[in-house]
Amino acid sequence: MKQYLKNHEWQIVEEGFDPHLNRVSESIFSLGNGQMGQRANFEENYSGDTHQGTYIAGVYYPDKTRVGWWKNGYPEYFAKVLNAPSWTSIGINIENQELDLAKCKVENFRRVLDMRLGLLSRSFTATFPDGKKVEVNAQRFCSMADGEVGAIKYSIKPLNFSSTAKITLGIDADVVNKDSNYDEKFWDRVYEESQMGWVIVSAQTKKTFFQVCTGIEYDLEMNGQRIGGKVFTNIRDKYADNIVEVELTEGTELTIYKYAAVLTSENHDKEELVKKCHAKIDETSKIGFQQLLAKHAAVWAHTWSECDITIEGDIAAQQGIRFNIFQLMQTYTGKDERLNIGPKGFTGEKYGGSTYWDTEAYCLPFYLSTSDPSVARQLLVYRYKHLPKAIENAKKLGFKDGAAFYPFVTMNGEECHNEWEITFEEIHRTSAMAYAMRDYVNYTGDKDYFTEFGLEVLIGISRFWVQRVNWSADKNKYVILGVTGPNEYENNVNNNWYTNYLAAWTLRFTQEALEYVKNSDGSKYKSLSGKLNFHEEEETKKWKDIVDKMYYAEDKTRGIFLQQDGFLDKELIKVSDLPAEDRPLNQKWSWDRILRSCFIKQADVLQCMFLFEDDFTLDQIKRNFDFYEPMTVHESSLSPCVHVILASKLGYKEKAYEMYLRTSRLDLDDYNNDTEDGCHITSMAGTWMSVVKGFGGMNVREGKLFFTPYIPEQWKSYSFRIEFNGRVLKVKVAKEKTEVILESGEPLEIMLNGKGVKL
Ligand code: BGC
Repeated sequence: MKQYLKNHEWQIVEEGFDPHLNRVSESIFSLGNGQMGQRANFEENYSGDTHQGTYIAGVYYPDKTRVGWWKNGYPEYFAKVLNAPSWTSIGINIENQELDLAKCKVENFRRVLDMRLGLLSRSFTATFPDGKKVEVNAQRFCSMADGEVGAIKYSIKPLNFSSTAKITLGIDADVVNKDSNYDEKFWDRVYEESQMGWVIVSAQTKKTFFQVCTGIEYDLEMNGQRIGGKVFTNIRDKYADNIVEVELTEGTELTIYKYAAVLTSENHDKEELVKKCHAKIDETSKIGFQQLLAKHAAVWAHTWSECDITIEGDIAAQQGIRFNIFQLMQTYTGKDERLNIGPKGFTGEKYGGSTYWDTEAYCLPFYLSTSDPSVARQLLVYRYKHLPKAIENAKKLGFKDGAAFYPFVTMNGEECHNEWEITFEEIHRTSAMAYAMRDYVNYTGDKDYFTEFGLEVLIGISRFWVQRVNWSADKNKYVILGVTGPNEYENNVNNNWYTNYLAAWTLRFTQEALEYVKNSDGSKYKSLSGKLNFHEEEETKKWKDIVDKMYYAEDKTRGIFLQQDGFLDKELIKVSDLPAEDRPLNQKWSWDRILRSCFIKQADVLQCMFLFEDDFTLDQIKRNFDFYEPMTVHESSLSPCVHVILASKLGYKEKAYEMYLRTSRLDLDDYNNDTEDGCHITSMAGTWMSVVKGFGGMNVREGKLFFTPYIPEQWKSYSFRIEFNGRVLKVKVAKEKTEVILESGEPLEIMLNGKGVKL
């Protein structure tokens, strides 16, 4: 755990430069706008330890699978979001000395991420080896107002000399992924041009043939006046720049404005990319830095007005929650139905930037409650569009007749995860798609989603379950064998309770959706049945049979559901009895030892109780929580938030707060020592849920909002805003009272602490 960042309500502040922390800071200070983003790499060259990263949503590469032992059914590739051509560099060379913070003496270093404005700033003084000293102030952002645009303002002032500076303003497409399986380069050159004042580089991904065209223009100013300079233009394969020679005068600040446009063949014809990119940078540089920033900040102001959470009395907690919201909002904006939420967003390469069940199980509630319903709908439509691939995935594994098996990890709908215990066995994920639909319809009331898209997906998933269960003559029940539940520290188990529950629930839910479509739009239902070759009587009969006769492992004496068959045969010990040096288990123990132990990576039985909390009595939740939580090591960042929410429900306030601390500042304090790889974007949605659903006790039942709030001891008050059916509500919880304010929209009735209240 590291605590080197200053506490501030709206800013992330780093003071003093510690090269050992640079990669962590590069992740934390990352910028994005839903369409593109980048790690907080320095503009000037840096020869020290760094992880260079520029990413464009949806631009990926199918990196050939690398495994120790190939198994039939493995996907051919792992889809990676690519490190893309970078536009942020500004090289500064003075009398053959490079401005490089690894080689200069650095003082007064300060890096600030202003979350209210979405602006990254950096300032420092640097002394070159020959004693020349400069002061630098830099600002940059990726525009939330125009996803193809970014801008930098970079000022440099010589403090004790006058001399000529060579300034390199370039674009580099000769970039690599650190996680490349075979050390391959993923980009081919397409086009480079460098003319006085502007540069364009276009490159194409191998295999997937995405073209990305990046352009920059720049202006130089001294004493507030535009200045020119001697310009040298350079190009080589996948790289182009302008080198500008400028006379620096002691005490006078030179300001460089660098404007960037990033256009891709996903949104434009390849033939037009260069022309359009050129027009875009022209237009962008004419608007100018301040205006661009004002437009960008206006989008953030609007966003915050709908989703902010305030915490009074604990600045670290306030900073933590805003950081989580900021990262989520800059990762996914819901403007493009082809995009999704990578577990690391635009902050790193790990996890390939691909889509996981995390989206449906963790992220959807955040976007549902903080954005226009169209944003959450996009996430559902994304999976609808992937239905043909889900059916293909199922076919590859031997399923038939339109069974849909959604991938664990994907970019385009194809499975690209290659650990057998997850790819083949973590099958519960296919039902997360159904759960997301339930969440969406419950929250928005938009049942017509079933008619337009949903039912088709549900029938596909139900067909998968029908074929995946098997009848046990011994138990006289349906069973599900050879699976991995959400707790990945158990593999190839039988009757994982979570999986069995989700499978049966999906069949019930599909039946409900089917009834809705049939009754509300008979002709659509008929045409859908024809398209899917759906035999209603026969298929729904089977669903019912499975629902009625599903086997659930349980221990009636203890009053608990069993995570899987045989769980009680394990030696049941508590995490608190483990020596500290054994943690984290996944780094200290052999896999075999982990599998044999009772230790749980992340919520499993409790995950189900969290998703379907109204299906269980408080006593059932309590018994299961008391049994499983002490054995849970929370070695997935997705685990603590589930426990915050259930502990809150049970009145275990201290436990809830202890768990909350593990999730809210996970990256800011580098809790798991892995933030250098990127931030944990999906667990950030869990942090949001911890406050709103945990402390705030928010729930939606049959279209009605429920709140049962309480306040953690350590806070004076907190408030959150949510969007609900065209309204914005603010809930403010203090020690002595709770206020719910309808900030905009039609009157409505809510339930507060069990009582109906009209707003
Ligand atoms: C968790 C999975 C999750 C993945 C990506 C893993 O550690 O066990 O549930 O989908 O991380 O966040």
